[in-house]
Amino acid sequence: MSSLKIKNQLTEMLGIDFPMIIAPMFLVSNLEMISEAMKNGIAGTFPSLNYRKENELEKILLELNKIKNSLGTIKGNYGVNIIVQKTNILFEKHLEICTRNKVPFYITSLGNPAPVIAAARSYGGKVFCDVTNLVHAQKCAQEGCDGFIAVGQGAGGHAGPNPLQVLVPALIKNFPNIPVIAAGGIATGGGVLSCLSLGASGVSVGTRFISSIEAKVSDDYKQAINKSGMDDIVMTTKISGTPCTIINTDYAKKIGYEQNWLEKKLSNNSTTKKYFKMLVQLRGMKKLQDSVLPANYKTLWCAGKSAELIYETKSCKEIIDSIIRETKHDYEKLKKTFQE
Ligand SMILES: Cc1cc2nc3c(=O)[nH]c(=O)nc-3n(C[C@H](O)[C@H](O)[C@H](O)COP(=O)(O)O)c2cc1C
Repeated sequence: MSSLKIKNQLTEMLGIDFPMIIAPMFLVSNLEMISEAMKNGIAGTFPSLNYRKENELEKILLELNKIKNSLGTIKGNYGVNIIVQKTNILFEKHLEICTRNKVPFYITSLGNPAPVIAAARSYGGKVFCDVTNLVHAQKCAQEGCDGFIAVGQGAGGHAGPNPLQVLVPALIKNFPNIPVIAAGGIATGGGVLSCLSLGASGVSVGTRFISSIEAKVSDDYKQAINKSGMDDIVMTTKISGTPCTIINTDYAKKIGYEQNWLEKKLSNNSTTKKYFKMLVQLRGMKKLQDSVLPANYKTLWCAGKSAELIYETKSCKEIIDSIIRETKHDYEKLKKTFQE
């Protein structure tokens, strides 16, 4: 394991050595990746929706608690991402299973985090809320969240509209006591260092780990990540109705990036909204699910702009170690340039 340990609000709160999280990724995050995160002094997370079959979620939580309890002197941790939107029909069931198994921390996305915060409070679990602007951050702060995940421009998945250089300091200025984890476009030690210097307490890294050895997605998907540049990543509302970053495959070009007028109308009408969004999301989930298998002509691959900085498939341990090493190296290099 790398020698660099950082002591700050986040590492203390999560009990980790280095302030980095492997971000939750639908259909990508798995037990091996989270286990490697924990064994290498950071935190690993997964969306509860990756485990939709009966008993699957319970089983992985039992396994993760066992790994966490056997870490010894290494400080690593894990968390679960719960989609709190009304369209998530497994929300209550998944929250009950997570609470019973005392999940150490949660990441909530899309919607009101209050029920997750109440459940986590009952046993001392922590809750971090995905935010892309100050309005949503205000609501999460009012509900008593323990931290924000500031999702900035170019992030994989539902990227925010604001650059991290603005979003992170704005959150810190408005909510000085709430730690901020920066997410979006971070794949190197320089990226980590820049976020820490903005005042973030840590980073959440997704896209870099899609092309890890442990990710159980097709080699075509991993190669597409390794070969894509920043201009190959585009936004689409076709998958979930909310803007999402994908690789600009031939199929993505063919179907276009925006919902048609009827889809938009059904998404906004008060009577059809909930059910239509549910349908769009189920359809989008099916499309993504087909795409993590070997490539077909309907391939839609979710990935952020940091694909530009990713060239090869490596193990999670190698990725974590090199990011930590680079953070230390880049810090020392920068320090040498400062003149009193
Ligand atoms: C393939 C993929 C799937 C994702 N799935 C989810 C998800 O299910 N829930 C969620 O909150 N965020 C999801 N995200 C967003 C990540 O949690 C994280 O915010 C993002 O990956 C950070 O940006 P980066 O990819 O540039 O590192 C996903 C991202 C990717 C790339």
